[in-house]
Amino acid sequence: MGKMKILSVNSLNKTFETEKNIKTQVLEDISFDVEEGDFIAIMGPSGSRISTLLYNISGMDKPTSGNIEIDGMDISKLDEDGLADVRLHKFGYVFQQPRLLKTLTVEENIMLAASVLNKEDKSVMQRKCNSLMEKAGIKELARRDISTLSGGQAQRVSICRSMMNDPKVIFADEPTGALNSRTSDEVMELFVGMNKSGSTIMLVTHDSKVAAKASQVWFLLDGQIYQKVELGQWDQSSQSLLKRQEQVNEIITKLEV
Ligand SMILES: Nc1ncnc2c1ncn2[C@@H]1O[C@H](COP(=O)(O)OP(=O)(O)OP(=O)(O)O)[C@@H](O)[C@H]1O
Ligand SMILES: [Mg+2]
Repeated sequence: MGKMKILSVNSLNKTFETEKNIKTQVLEDISFDVEEGDFIAIMGPSGSRISTLLYNISGMDKPTSGNIEIDGMDISKLDEDGLADVRLHKFGYVFQQPRLLKTLTVEENIMLAASVLNKEDKSVMQRKCNSLMEKAGIKELARRDISTLSGGQAQRVSICRSMMNDPKVIFADEPTGALNSRTSDEVMELFVGMNKSGSTIMLVTHDSKVAAKASQVWFLLDGQIYQKVELGQWDQSSQSLLKRQEQVNEIITKLEV
């Protein structure tokens, strides 16, 4: 039995008008499929447009041309309201700097998007929030103010929030980029665990250790997918991680020159 195709990108192009009448093509004819349960890391030299790719396939930005199908629905032609709806119902997002509301507590932040949806009653949401906080090891922080959290704790709150609406895909742009190596490991442990429980993740990173924990690593160069490496699901041993990281480093150092 084949896995379920969840996201399908066809001939995606993106151009910017950098100056009047001067157009720069930043993404060129990108096509790929993502299947349920995939864990894909996207890497590239600095400025290789990995963030732009993530934004254009996740409804945060609009491609100049091409199709993006999520769950069989083409979202590339949707207007702003339609896209906002897709972002809320279908996707989860994690950014380098956690985007949390400072006037709300940890659990209020996690429940926020779900409460906008208003489709489930409060007790169902509360149970889900509790279970996510438990998994993320932040349950004891539920009532804390956001300003009292460390960077790693705040990022774990963001990840819990991104999971509240059972997203089809979680998109993360350098989620460990602002963290030290120990908290980066903790945040990645959470992503790896979520993927093992079935979540589909696409994560942009410049860190080969982070990428080596994904099942696939895609390399972007000059706005095109240059290479895809299938690593398979990580067995969570540090020995295999080193080998995977070497494999990733070999390619990225070649691309960076
Ligand atoms: N809205 C925009 N208008 C014009 N040019 C843009 C716009 N957004 C991105 N670019 C161009 O695309 C390039 C790549 O942007 P992007 O942020 O995707 O790179 P990146 O690979 O994520 O880089 P980094 O490693 O620094 O995060 C930028 O350097 C910029 O020149
Ligand atoms: Mg970027």
